[in-house]
Amino acid sequence: MSTSTAQVFIDTNRTIAPISPLLFGGFAEHMGRCVYEGIYDPESPHADERGLRKDVVEALRDQSYTVIRYPGGNFLSGYNWLDGVGPKAQRPRRRELAWQSVETNQFGTNEFIEFCAAINAAPMLGVNMGTGDIQSASNLVEYCNLSDGTYWSDLRASHGFREPHDVRYWCVGNEMDGPWQIGHLDAAAYGSKALEAAKMMKWQDPTIETILCGSSNDRMPTYPEWDRVALEIAWEHMDYLSMHYYTGNREDDTASYLASAVLFERFVDTLEGTLRYVKAKRRSKHDVHLSWDEWQVWYKGDPKQGNWAEAPHLAEEIYNLEDALVVAQWLNVFLRKSYVLKIACVAQIVNVISWLHTRRDGLLKQPSYYAFKLVSNLARGEALDVLVKAPELETKQYDAVPALDVSASYDDETQQGAIFLVNRGQTEAVVTDIVWQDGRTVHIDEAWQLAGSDPKEVNSWDEPNRLIANAISAPTVEDGRATLNLPPLSFTALSTRTA
Ligand code: AHR
Repeated sequence: MSTSTAQVFIDTNRTIAPISPLLFGGFAEHMGRCVYEGIYDPESPHADERGLRKDVVEALRDQSYTVIRYPGGNFLSGYNWLDGVGPKAQRPRRRELAWQSVETNQFGTNEFIEFCAAINAAPMLGVNMGTGDIQSASNLVEYCNLSDGTYWSDLRASHGFREPHDVRYWCVGNEMDGPWQIGHLDAAAYGSKALEAAKMMKWQDPTIETILCGSSNDRMPTYPEWDRVALEIAWEHMDYLSMHYYTGNREDDTASYLASAVLFERFVDTLEGTLRYVKAKRRSKHDVHLSWDEWQVWYKGDPKQGNWAEAPHLAEEIYNLEDALVVAQWLNVFLRKSYVLKIACVAQIVNVISWLHTRRDGLLKQPSYYAFKLVSNLARGEALDVLVKAPELETKQYDAVPALDVSASYDDETQQGAIFLVNRGQTEAVVTDIVWQDGRTVHIDEAWQLAGSDPKEVNSWDEPNRLIANAISAPTVEDGRATLNLPPLSFTALSTRTA
């Protein structure tokens, strides 16, 4: 195998911004087998007394999710939250139009809150801006967050939940720019409805934070004008603008696909510019940040709708090594953009567009599971502005890109750091010098690597551990410098400690 060389310069004083813990979030939708047979499966030998899958809960805890967005997605825009609360025997079976499935409503808001507690994540709820009205959005905030003594808070207590749920994060609708959305609106109509909903919701509970629907992706004909118009109307009542993006190696052009970080950064840059523009135009002192609350690789799975089945198999993607390396870059971008990006939720957490698949009696972890787990467990404190000098690779879509995609973090309180390095080259190892420029004494405590020789390599039920993150020997740091061999098609994570 041929090799080249690179240098990565780290300075713990050269910071970007504090890393919001909410960057390691997930998304759970009533779609396919995410909720039923994923999170909740009373028939499974792995179910606890509430019907939650213990093996799924354990894997999600292992990934240290901090926040979970629920209940949709496109599902949200036809959902009446009242269907999913109260005695289960009385909950209606409904035809669910977004995914053309039958929704049993055996899992709803209160079960979701219990599930979040089981995995130590904060809940992020959506209010329906499709068929739903602003009154229903306001009622749900009262139901969840008010202590008692009023109609909706007492209703919650009568359902067995005396203490309020204290839901802080609220999505005001989902992908309302998309013609596929139930009750789709144009930007001005949506902005006005979202403003009125958020006003009522914040009057119910002024501590909540609201998320305005941004463009569904950068290919929408209305992008980024949609974002500007909706923001100009609703700015003062919103705390975040949502971004959604699904990618994939559709052209089977692995070199370009492995440079996806370029595209992700451009998407953030455009919306960051839009936020700055609207803030200036409104002469506002208020800030709105970005919430990338749907992101994932999604292109191989069967796009068919549910044929009016309960929990149909929908979008159950098989992920390979190149997909995992794209996920690792996505996470690198989250750290590099941490000054404006404050929330991110991978879509979705189990079965649907997910790196975690269930069978009634088993669980399969796909390669990108390990990339997420490493970053969500190690990135703490502030993101660092890393200087990378690496050889360049030619790509069809993005011209020349550096062979290495890198991010780093440092927590001044614990003096722990982390460095995340993707070698996006397919043939050359890169012998990389990591140079600490701040004069502190550093040790590398542990190192892990996810690597393979074939970008199309996968884990399967028969061979579930072909691609995992292996512990590798941690390189020694001498005179503020360590040397590391980064194989082609690899993701490496280092955890460091400053003396
Ligand atoms: O995550 C699957 C779907 O993708 C969501 O329902 C929707 O918001 C997006 O288009």
